[in-house]
Amino acid sequence: MIKPHGSDALNPLYLSDESARKALTEEAKSLPSILVNSAAAANAVMLAGGYFNPLTGYMNLADSLAVSEKMTTTDGLFFPVPVVNRVESSEGIEIGSRIALLDPNVEGNPAVAVMEVEGIDVANDDQINTMTEQVYGTLDANHPGVATFQAAGNVFLSGPIQVLNFSYFKTDFPDTFRTAVEIREEIASMGWEKVVAFQTRNPMHRAHEELCRMAMDSLGADGCVIHMLLGKLKAGDIPADVRDAAIRKMAELYFPPNSTLITGYGFDMLYAGPREAVLHALFRQNMGATHLIVGRDHAGVGDYYGAFDAQTIFDEVPEDAMDIEIFKADHTAYSKKLNKVVMMRDAPDHSKEDFVLLSGTKVREMLGKGEALPGEFARPEVAQILMDYYQALDAS
Ligand code: ADX
Repeated sequence: MIKPHGSDALNPLYLSDESARKALTEEAKSLPSILVNSAAAANAVMLAGGYFNPLTGYMNLADSLAVSEKMTTTDGLFFPVPVVNRVESSEGIEIGSRIALLDPNVEGNPAVAVMEVEGIDVANDDQINTMTEQVYGTLDANHPGVATFQAAGNVFLSGPIQVLNFSYFKTDFPDTFRTAVEIREEIASMGWEKVVAFQTRNPMHRAHEELCRMAMDSLGADGCVIHMLLGKLKAGDIPADVRDAAIRKMAELYFPPNSTLITGYGFDMLYAGPREAVLHALFRQNMGATHLIVGRDHAGVGDYYGAFDAQTIFDEVPEDAMDIEIFKADHTAYSKKLNKVVMMRDAPDHSKEDFVLLSGTKVREMLGKGEALPGEFARPEVAQILMDYYQALDAS
């Protein structure tokens, strides 16, 4: 199976020994503590599951600056975005101490992890702005990822962590949330070698479905891991439980048995376009995928990124940085001439008018207006799940 990023074996930071975990959970109650932001809690969950291998905890300011600038830590480890725990104030926290990190997303704010504080660095506003521009490509506060990044505190708490639980993800999505360790195990038990990963934050419309099929066919892949984001999204995006139900229905009805794994990961969407695509590739390698589909405006929002910037950024990734490969998908649309979904590059004789353009944004717009989704956009069974959700929204 493909090796994890940066080490021979995966090093998940979840404290898996039950008695040790219980003891540390108990001890955490009497340690100095800090309520972390949602991004830091999600980072802990990703570290816990092995997705951010080989990191052992949160980056310090020097590494965050280096990673933002050139996708490499000060020690030369390839990593596309800073993985940080930023707080407003470090009052009462000392270097060398152990602290409990309290989860903002779970009632009662239990500890999600215990951290050994190795560094406390205060970034100035120029440094925050520089990192924002390098990672997100813009300083525009209307960009949801930029707004979140800019609102986080300027104090960077760095150091190794031991993770006590998977926040709300394992309890809220027991059938879908999986760690990288678990996905590696599932891939092995399926006997798959060539494995395509599909990233999504949407219910799967026809373009998504066909992208998976086209990638599997053209690569001769053994299986496809549909890997949906289960964390926080911007307002207006479709909630994870609805997406999950729609995706499961689509896979059950339209893919051969045992050709897909329907899974999800606990992370908040960054909307960082190209940089997030590289992060997506890195953590799919950690879960055992050999390929990641990157299509049009991958992990994008609004008009901040060019349609294929998330593909061209891989030209800047050094050859030996990652083992996973990218399946570059062209704009995929419904051809009225051929009565099927195609990649535009495969239909050179078509004019613009021959296509029905498919996008998650368009689907959400139509549903929001109470319009039925045509078959070119979504499978009828998927459309029904989505329409039911929007009708329930209207009624409430
Ligand atoms: S994302 O933010 O998670 O990337 P989304 O769930 O819409 O958003 O997309 C999942 C994947 O499908 C991404 O790789 C994206 O580039 C690709 N994709 C979505 N719609 C299209 C389309 N019409 N043509 C080509 N690729 C697409």
